[in-house]
Amino acid sequence: MVPNKENSTMNSHNDEVVDTKNDYLSGERVSGAQVNGVRGAHYCGGEYVSDVRVSAVRVEHYSGDVLGIAHTSPRLSWDYEGIPTQGDRVLVSVVREGVEVARTQDSVELPAQSHVLVDWPFDPLAPREEARLSVQLVGSDAQPAAVRVESSMAAWELNADFVGPAWSEPETDHRHLPLVRTEINVSGKPVRARLYLSALGLVEAHINGHTVGEDVLNPGWTVYRDRVEQWAYDVTDMLHEGTNALGFLLGDGWWRGRLGFDGGIPNVYGDRIGVQAQLEVRLDNGQVLKFYSNAWDETWHAARGPIVRSDLYEGETYDARLEQKGWDEPGFDETTTQGTIGQWDPVAEVVYDQYKVKPASKEAVRAQGENRPVSISKQADGTYLLDFGQNCSQLINLHMKGLKTGDVVELRHAEVLDSDGSLATRTLRRGQQHNTYISNGQDAWWQPRFVMHGFRYATISGYPGELTADNLVCSVYHTTMRRTGWFNSSNTLLNRLHSNALWSMKSNFVSLPTDCPQRDERMGWTGDIDLFAPTASYLYDVHNILGSWLTDVRSEQLNCGTVPFFVPFVPLGVWAKPEAIAIWGDAVVAVPWAIYMDDGDTQLLEQSWDLIHDWIAEVEGYLSPDGVWDRKLRYPLGQLGDWLDPSAPPEDPTQAITQKELVATAFFARSCKQASYIAAALGKGEEEEHYASLYERIRTGYIARFVQRNDHTGLRMTSDTQCAYALSIAFGLFEGSERLVAAAGERLANLVRESGGKVSTGFAGTPYVLPALSATGHIQEAYSLLLSTQCPSWLYQVAMGATTTWERWDSLLPDGSINPGGMTSFNHYALGSVAQWLHTGIGGLESLEPGWKRFAVNPFVGGGLDHASTAHITPFGQARVDWKINDDGSAVDVHVEVPYGSTAVVPALDGKELTAGEHNIKIKLS
Ligand code: BGC
Repeated sequence: MVPNKENSTMNSHNDEVVDTKNDYLSGERVSGAQVNGVRGAHYCGGEYVSDVRVSAVRVEHYSGDVLGIAHTSPRLSWDYEGIPTQGDRVLVSVVREGVEVARTQDSVELPAQSHVLVDWPFDPLAPREEARLSVQLVGSDAQPAAVRVESSMAAWELNADFVGPAWSEPETDHRHLPLVRTEINVSGKPVRARLYLSALGLVEAHINGHTVGEDVLNPGWTVYRDRVEQWAYDVTDMLHEGTNALGFLLGDGWWRGRLGFDGGIPNVYGDRIGVQAQLEVRLDNGQVLKFYSNAWDETWHAARGPIVRSDLYEGETYDARLEQKGWDEPGFDETTTQGTIGQWDPVAEVVYDQYKVKPASKEAVRAQGENRPVSISKQADGTYLLDFGQNCSQLINLHMKGLKTGDVVELRHAEVLDSDGSLATRTLRRGQQHNTYISNGQDAWWQPRFVMHGFRYATISGYPGELTADNLVCSVYHTTMRRTGWFNSSNTLLNRLHSNALWSMKSNFVSLPTDCPQRDERMGWTGDIDLFAPTASYLYDVHNILGSWLTDVRSEQLNCGTVPFFVPFVPLGVWAKPEAIAIWGDAVVAVPWAIYMDDGDTQLLEQSWDLIHDWIAEVEGYLSPDGVWDRKLRYPLGQLGDWLDPSAPPEDPTQAITQKELVATAFFARSCKQASYIAAALGKGEEEEHYASLYERIRTGYIARFVQRNDHTGLRMTSDTQCAYALSIAFGLFEGSERLVAAAGERLANLVRESGGKVSTGFAGTPYVLPALSATGHIQEAYSLLLSTQCPSWLYQVAMGATTTWERWDSLLPDGSINPGGMTSFNHYALGSVAQWLHTGIGGLESLEPGWKRFAVNPFVGGGLDHASTAHITPFGQARVDWKINDDGSAVDVHVEVPYGSTAVVPALDGKELTAGEHNIKIKLS
């Protein structure tokens, strides 16, 4: 059974409710024509023509066209503008064609009603076959919605090898990066061409002098030991009849660059880099040509290029004097550089199992807008200091002009400034984000290729003349994702808090979910995404990026024998020998669960089942007979507990006030409960029962061990902390006893009052404290905690000028100085998990059933706010709540949007249901 929160205590606020418009509440739309019972239609040429139209069509969980996906029968979803009527049908048409497959056409009519993840209605796609789809409501004269999808090549069709330089290289760091090139003869007019591209390292492909696509940092980071991804590009327009040139810049990236903290580890996956390229071209006479990267036909050559040093975290050095003009164009004379550093030599193969090359399973990292400098100031030594106003993952493209040969321009980046106004680089540790450009005397625009930086401020030294904003473009980078969530209110600090959480998410969704984007770390820490996943899946469609990451988590679980602390795993310092720890390991259940609650797709649950099953089985074996997880660990830090609660000293974040075994047991109970729901969704009755009874056993042990006193004077837990009560309430650990739940709520509210509204939770407790307060009717305390600006609190960060969520509550101390802890980031999303309460608590929008089939509209009005709104693109379309206190302050007007296929439930109207359309309701304030 999946949870049904309709009867939960979320509706315990006691506002009086008045149903203003009964029509609306019975499901009629507020706007839109009504003709003869057909909603949204017009009369045309003697017939009623529907005004409803299909507005967008999607394939699997991609928005827009998608090339090279693994699915041969991808599922389809589409949205409607307007609301179809019972009996409406859609026409799905397809035009198919492949490199070697002739053009065919087909169409099928389907009921309009199901429009989410509809099974592929045609024969499966052949490998590398393209389908142009269009979907239209039958009887509508509106333009159909269209999308293009193309399947990947089959594993056995991959003939290209990985190739790279044959010269000997330094063992680690500061390796001169290669260029790889070849020329090919296209013996006719190309009408269709695809490049299938991958790399051990990072690659940027060029054809005839132009860059292929806009993706950066490809092929992205996966557990390379088990898979590396392949990306497909339509390069038809880049080729011509005759000689064409293919060129590739290669970078160290995650493959052999230095990864992680405590000095990091280089060459984690190998010490040689290589590109794999397979180009397939169809000519107008139907002939198909195929070109493969290889080391045996002697047409693929490598030379040292202009990037003389590159490290993802540390930065890149580009020596423009080493550029070879025309290297990526046909007719380039490779012999002119003989004897110099840029000499071209045959490539060598870099051996890698071809069957581990897999079609890309997510969207690529790309530029996603720009930040303009808000100030550019010249220091006494001529160095420019730039403030971009926004901390995030970004890169500067700089116009190098007026430089003489050999002149050096240096760019450094940091999140914050030290008290003397200089860049604060201590917290970056080894990841110094320092780029260097050496000029060849010609003007050029330059941006480093194989790095990523997290910063708000930058310095540029060695820049001649006046540096103005016109001389640079600062692009924001993250994995391409569809934005699906918004929040706004009358409180500007809260709006900034929400925006900060959003920016931290974007900054840390760069190929995989990481902890931070700036220092020498940037690992896929499992605990951080465990706690942030519900927020992430509200804000963006994260199915693909997190689904891809979960594949890696499974790989590492098999490799490590447990779920390691971060994925991909790198054996760093004290973390070198993974052991099962709560929250971080529990991510394997929480992340698929959060995605499923958002998109209702059981495929990801199927894919994650072994991962979930093995995690629960492993930890079940560690529990004490009473179900408590208190086993001592061998690795030095033990359970991380309520990591970084504000009482922990800067140098020891594990010294939290809540007992670690309490936290561990609570989270594992949550995992067992979610796993039983997952088993139910997958029809695995036996496991469902087992996990449900395991949950009961743990719950009983938890109460016996951690509830110290529960008499008329009130409840006390062994850890009398906000975290302990919040977890107990939010995970339902006291369910079945209303008295215990109420007492826990009372005690939690008291602790908040006693603290004067100061936060006292760390990573673990933070997402749950406001939901626990509101679930037990303590709305005022929830708002007092949320709206406090004292240190520590969410709005303290905002008041201190934060533009992202910080790792520590006090990454910046009240005196403006930087927290002395060696681990101090200004861009971690974990504490931004509070944004979910802004959506569900303040906005009042919450998914009740997987995929938003049913959702609650239940805003908690308070905190001095006079209006708020939130919207989420559900699989069915947009759900939205806007509320506003009316002019005389006596009531709240709520406007609700319910998408077609979904039902909203209003607990404050006795569970009244709202069907598709727009509705206005009024809630009287007491
Ligand atoms: C990371 C965290 C992570 C933690 C676990 C830190 O260094 O930045 O976000 O979860 O370690 O101990």
